Amino acid sequence: VLHIRSMTRSDLLFGGELSRQAGWNQTAADWQRFLTLQPDGCFVAELDDQPIGTATTCLFEHVGWIGMVLVDPSARRQGVGRALMNQAIRYLESHAANAIRLDATPMGMPLYTSLGFTTQYRLTRFAGKIQCPHVKNKEEDSQEPPWEQIATFDANLIGYSRQKLFHQLEAEPEIRTLVDQKGQEMLGYVCTRPGRLAVYVGPCMASSPEVGEGLMRQALGRYHSQEVIIDVPNDNRRAIEVMASVGLKPSRELVRMCRGETAPEPIESLWASGDPAKG
Ligand SMILES: CC(C)(COP(=O)(O)OP(=O)(O)OC[C@H]1O[C@@H](n2cnc3c(N)ncnc32)[C@H](O)[C@@H]1OP(=O)(O)O)[C@@H](O)C(=O)NCCC(=O)NCCS
Repeated sequence: VLHIRSMTRSDLLFGGELSRQAGWNQTAADWQRFLTLQPDGCFVAELDDQPIGTATTCLFEHVGWIGMVLVDPSARRQGVGRALMNQAIRYLESHAANAIRLDATPMGMPLYTSLGFTTQYRLTRFAGKIQCPHVKNKEEDSQEPPWEQIATFDANLIGYSRQKLFHQLEAEPEIRTLVDQKGQEMLGYVCTRPGRLAVYVGPCMASSPEVGEGLMRQALGRYHSQEVIIDVPNDNRRAIEVMASVGLKPSRELVRMCRGETAPEPIESLWASGDPAKG
């Protein structure tokens, strides 16, 4: 019998096993963050009382995100993924989401398409060992990042507030953040965090291509000769060029999909997605 129930802290190890098995980059801290951000909106599928799948949601104002849709390989093609998705959609719609977004892998796309999700744009995951010398010319993270200003800057660009995400990042000592400011005016920010396989770079939003490139090179320079992963919109040409120039290679394609109202995203300002599970 298939049963979908709420995820609890005791499921986080199981989630970690599923994402590791899929070759994904999430750490225990990433899983903990999913549950902290939407404590009653993360789900586990059980087949005959055995956990076999997960899905998480994250609601920012009226925009809901779905992520971590994972089904154990032994239980695929039996409707588990669909049941998890239906539960996640129901949860978000009952909490007044008028748009639901996700980043689809090629494996997930047919399912999402059949549930009414349409393609917004494509992202490329870049991965590899960074070849980028360290440059120290912006605010280094000895200072506390101006989180309120970052949240306001971000909301002005994307059209909804991710303040609860920034509050959470502020509380995590492993998150490193760089900002570019002109006086009091915020011009851009980038966050990085450890991953299971590689440092994850993002979110990164910038008010101009010059600011984006400067922030990105400075952030990447800190990880010279280390493995990093970045998800970049294909239509941000400047960002794609920078990726190649620092030795990163395309490793896979993600498709940003939307169900409900589509909000236009400022792709030229979006240098790196924060997470496939919440944009
Ligand atoms: C994507 C994934 C979650 C789907 O889970 P699942 O339990 O196998 O999905 P379902 O059995 O509910 O299949 C849902 C529908 O998608 C379709 N589908 C699923 N996999 C498909 C495939 N590889 N090719 C074509 N169609 C497929 C089926 O037609 C099915 O429709 P049906 O209900 O009419 O049979 C699972 O394959 C998985 O965990 N993959 C690895 C992780 C991943 O990529 N997750 C997606 C993240 S965006």
